[in-house]
Amino acid sequence: MSSSRSLARLRNGLIVAATGLGGIWLLIYAGAYDVGADAPHSGPVFRLLDIIRQRSIAVRSADVVPPSDLDDPKRLARGAALYGEMCSGCHLAPGMEASEISQGLYPRAPDFRKGTSLSPQQAFWVIKHGIKMTGMAAWGVTHGDELIWDMVAFVGKLPSLSSADYRAAISNAPQEHEHAMHATGQGEPGGGRQ
Ligand code: HEC
Repeated sequence: MSSSRSLARLRNGLIVAATGLGGIWLLIYAGAYDVGADAPHSGPVFRLLDIIRQRSIAVRSADVVPPSDLDDPKRLARGAALYGEMCSGCHLAPGMEASEISQGLYPRAPDFRKGTSLSPQQAFWVIKHGIKMTGMAAWGVTHGDELIWDMVAFVGKLPSLSSADYRAAISNAPQEHEHAMHATGQGEPGGGRQ
């Protein structure tokens, strides 16, 4: 008696689950979700993606060990060059107007003039691996770990720079950045994850 009742409950549960999944599939197939970058996520989707991003970054960056010389002027100079060349278009910089891409991105790229809430380890992980479906690329595919730490160091300094400081940092910066996996021997695509 009781086993046939629990079988009936199991069957009802399966029917409810299948109906729910079928309903979700119908909504997906009908194109109900707007993937356009000019239509914000609904509240629940936004909160879910935000938790996924935060937990993924926190867990994956937990074992990253930052170098002790993030304040080294040579590191900051290299970081300035890389930032001016590859990052400021989306993340902006002191003295810069909002760019067209920075206004059209969704999610928006954080404006680093206001700093970041990420720790250096977390920033390193994000710069190296990127974030899926956001426009934030995996710079570790083409840059070794040392260059990524240079960028982490410079991003940390950015909020304290005036536009004159920033211009000076960019113009004093080394002109050519080595695309330096080969120079450092690190960061092979698909290689070890730090
Ligand atoms: C094409 C635009 C674009 C470029 C270029 C770009 N980023 Fe990003 N970046 C983004 C977006 C968008 C996000 C936010 C992703 C999100 O909200 O999940 C982001 C997030 C980040 C974060 C996480 C910040 C936080 O507070 O959560 C860091 C660190 C970062 N980028 C560093 C860089 C660096 C360093 C460069 C240059 C090497 C760079 N980005 C180039 C678009 C860009």
